[in-house]
Amino acid sequence: MASVHKLKERAAEQREAQNVKTFANRTTPETHYRALDRPDISYTRFFTRMNLYFEEYEKHKEIQNPPISFADGVADPVEFRNSPLLTRLFGNAVEKHLYAGYSRARGEPQLLEAIIKYENLFVDRKYDTDNISMVNGVMRGTSLLLDVLVTYNRTNEFTHGLDEILVILPNYPSLSGIALRLHDAGLTSFKTTLAQETEDFSITASEVVRGITEKTRIMMLTNPNNPTGKYIPRRELEKIIEVCNEKRIYLLIDEIGDNYIFDEGSRKANYPININSEFVVRLRGPSKERNLAGVRIGYVLANKELIRDIEDQVPFSDGNPPKLANDFLIEDARLHYEVETCAPTTLEKDAITYKQEIEKNEQKLLDARNYTIKRLHNMMGVRKVIAPEANFNLFVQFAHEGGSHDLFEKILMTTGVIITPGICFGVPDSPDGAWMRFTFATSFEKLRRGLELIEYFLNTRGA
Ligand SMILES: Cc1ncc(COP(=O)(O)O)c(C=O)c1O
Repeated sequence: MASVHKLKERAAEQREAQNVKTFANRTTPETHYRALDRPDISYTRFFTRMNLYFEEYEKHKEIQNPPISFADGVADPVEFRNSPLLTRLFGNAVEKHLYAGYSRARGEPQLLEAIIKYENLFVDRKYDTDNISMVNGVMRGTSLLLDVLVTYNRTNEFTHGLDEILVILPNYPSLSGIALRLHDAGLTSFKTTLAQETEDFSITASEVVRGITEKTRIMMLTNPNNPTGKYIPRRELEKIIEVCNEKRIYLLIDEIGDNYIFDEGSRKANYPININSEFVVRLRGPSKERNLAGVRIGYVLANKELIRDIEDQVPFSDGNPPKLANDFLIEDARLHYEVETCAPTTLEKDAITYKQEIEKNEQKLLDARNYTIKRLHNMMGVRKVIAPEANFNLFVQFAHEGGSHDLFEKILMTTGVIITPGICFGVPDSPDGAWMRFTFATSFEKLRRGLELIEYFLNTRGA
């Protein structure tokens, strides 16, 4: 068994070395591989290692610990099951649209209207239906936007190879990966700035502004942040937007985690008055909020010219979600609006069910969050826990000298528990300890068992 394991490990190392070499060959000579600049490589390395463990476990169940993953970045499908109401809405859409052909490039008008009506509840300057385009999820929306901004090049007049995409870290590695692909193709330069003025990686305007150069044309960040679950304070976001407008830098804000808000105030409090301005592009969708990642739908809110560029540039069969998904979401958006605006006593039957489902999941997630924070706080070897304001990830720092990838491997090999190394989100290793992301949207039983094993590892390592 040990030798099989060693062989696999060696194969993974070789694959990883090959990855680094391949990327290195594609980048300009002065670009060196540094973990902070290539979170995508750290992420690939993490996935390779994790998958290897899964394969090993299948073969050696009797001696390997069963994997327990807190690295998924989505809610547990059993614990946060799609509800009978959603299933019925989906069924209705299937009946109506399965053979109905392509949807409109920007999405079905009824859906655009329903979403804009809902979104306008939260902003001071209102959007209209020319400010929105449906996309195949936030990830595809991001790659589509970068395609349009960088290669179509009408709105932004990008100078190929020179102009820069600035990614504010910590950030979701696949987003950096999309920007890095353009860099690897020689179309843009790539820069990162790590939010480090605050203890909890909260993004401040001053450090974002310091990261901007003469060449910056696009900036990317997540709000709330992935992995920390912290919102950018309203005033800071307002200042960042002011600078972007002044310097004509497109600010792409990934808001996929803007749900399950744990603090009392509504999310409206987080939007400054200038959120709907020319250079702000917001990407939103139900993948996390309604556990609908499998439906592959999301939307972009942006200025009308950019939305038109997306529509002109993207063929109707690429980038826009199927008619079926469009139709399914119309009813969902309508119910969302009802729940936000109507007094509970006047809600229709479906809206009452919808509200109850949301509240049930919110309570379950709040309990899971508080339980996880409490357990982690009480563990020897845990340095800091950042309590998230929204969504279902938290960022935790362990006392560990070998770096976050090393800690991930050690916990995995000792216990079978999987948590994501902070290096994947662009947080560098430091002598202070290793940062790790923990997804807590799962059952109590799994949380209890997994946290117990992590504690066991922390108490016994080096023993
Ligand atoms: C920050 C962030 N953006 C986008 C996505 C993917 O969103 P979608 O399913 O809408 O493509 C994820 C998924 O984990 C994410 O964490």
